[in-house]
Amino acid sequence: MHEFRYRNNELYCEGARVSEIAEKFGTPLYIYSRKTLLDHYRKIKRALRSINPLICFSVKANSNLALLKVLANQGAGMDVVSGGELYKALKVGVNPKKIVYAGVGKSEKEIAAAIRAGILFFNAESFAELALIERVAGRLKKKANVSLRVNPDIDPHTHKFITTGKMTNKFGLDIKTCEEIFLRCGIIFSHLSLIGLHIHIGSQITDRLPFVKAIKKMLVLIKRLRQRGISLKYFNIGGGLGIVYRDERPQSAEEFAQAVLPLLRATKLKIILEPGRFIAGNSGILLTRVVYIKKTPNKNFAIVDAGMNDLIRPSLYNAYHEILPVVRNAQYAIRTTHYDIVGPICESADFLAKNRPMPALRAKDLLAVMGAGAYAFAMSSNYNSRPRAAEVLVNKKGRALVRKRECYRDLIRQEIIPRNL
Ligand SMILES: Cc1ncc(COP(=O)(O)O)c(C=O)c1O
Repeated sequence: MHEFRYRNNELYCEGARVSEIAEKFGTPLYIYSRKTLLDHYRKIKRALRSINPLICFSVKANSNLALLKVLANQGAGMDVVSGGELYKALKVGVNPKKIVYAGVGKSEKEIAAAIRAGILFFNAESFAELALIERVAGRLKKKANVSLRVNPDIDPHTHKFITTGKMTNKFGLDIKTCEEIFLRCGIIFSHLSLIGLHIHIGSQITDRLPFVKAIKKMLVLIKRLRQRGISLKYFNIGGGLGIVYRDERPQSAEEFAQAVLPLLRATKLKIILEPGRFIAGNSGILLTRVVYIKKTPNKNFAIVDAGMNDLIRPSLYNAYHEILPVVRNAQYAIRTTHYDIVGPICESADFLAKNRPMPALRAKDLLAVMGAGAYAFAMSSNYNSRPRAAEVLVNKKGRALVRKRECYRDLIRQEIIPRNL
């Protein structure tokens, strides 16, 4: 499942000793395994090989250039949601014809940049957005390719903050409106080609059924559109495949494929997927060092040097991340002490784990926060004026720094004190 394993009671990433990487680059530190990243990309590609889909890695999950480059080298496309992500995808040499662009709030500038770059298509989420794409394409004297993001109103049974395909969510268009837009597009828009449909119902979905239900709804829509003479080229089924953080039993790529392949074949369209978490989630860890142990009458706190600015998932979603000691000592097997593992940030929501059974911890111990390859560094911030962590990529040849640790100068780089103060 991933390449972070113990050897002689020491945690390794592939062939590299994690504690040695910590000594060299300091903590907090993100460490990624290239092999784990590639294995997951290949797993999903292999499972669906009979329909040869375009796999567009969802850049929002992890936008480090080195990781994007690893995937681009394998022929992956990219799913982007901002001008910045488009910039990064192009920077690592992704063929623009493998880039799809979603998001409810694309700006005029971002739309123009994507049209100029010649991306495969926009996943448009509202009528107002279509009107803006039309205007920008007209001004650039180009035709823009567009898929409509449909909100299929399916509950994916995941955390409410990462549910995106219910009618109460801001994403996509309801099926009826989509149909109307397809029927009237040729009359209203002369610079748009409506060429596909897009869904993305949520993230960390562990069961196949919500995907199956959503795709079945889309099959009905595709059929109705065909009957009205509208031909499509693409069906983008989004991302959302769940991974193991704790004791979840998410569908494997093969099980997912088995459930959706017959439905996808029936569309006779080119299929696109946008997995983020499935590809990157288990490829990374956040390495942190215990600064203090603090015992109070009620609790044991292990205060570590990584905070919610480095990894916000526990604070934001109450997400569970397994936390392992980098060096297992004799006490490892006896997990008698319960700790709140907390960061240095001045918020009570700043925690990595609550009431977690651990071997007895001491100051300076190194801990590995597992499953930190997706929505981890990508969501980090400078809150409390903390420089963001460094990132290291390990491959079979060794390890390489792929993002420098920020310094205090980075914190003020964009700030200006007006002269008249
Ligand atoms: C439109 C779209 N596609 C793909 C993804 C990737 O989702 P996941 O990382 O769960 O695969 C997201 C995540 O929010 C998304 O919004």
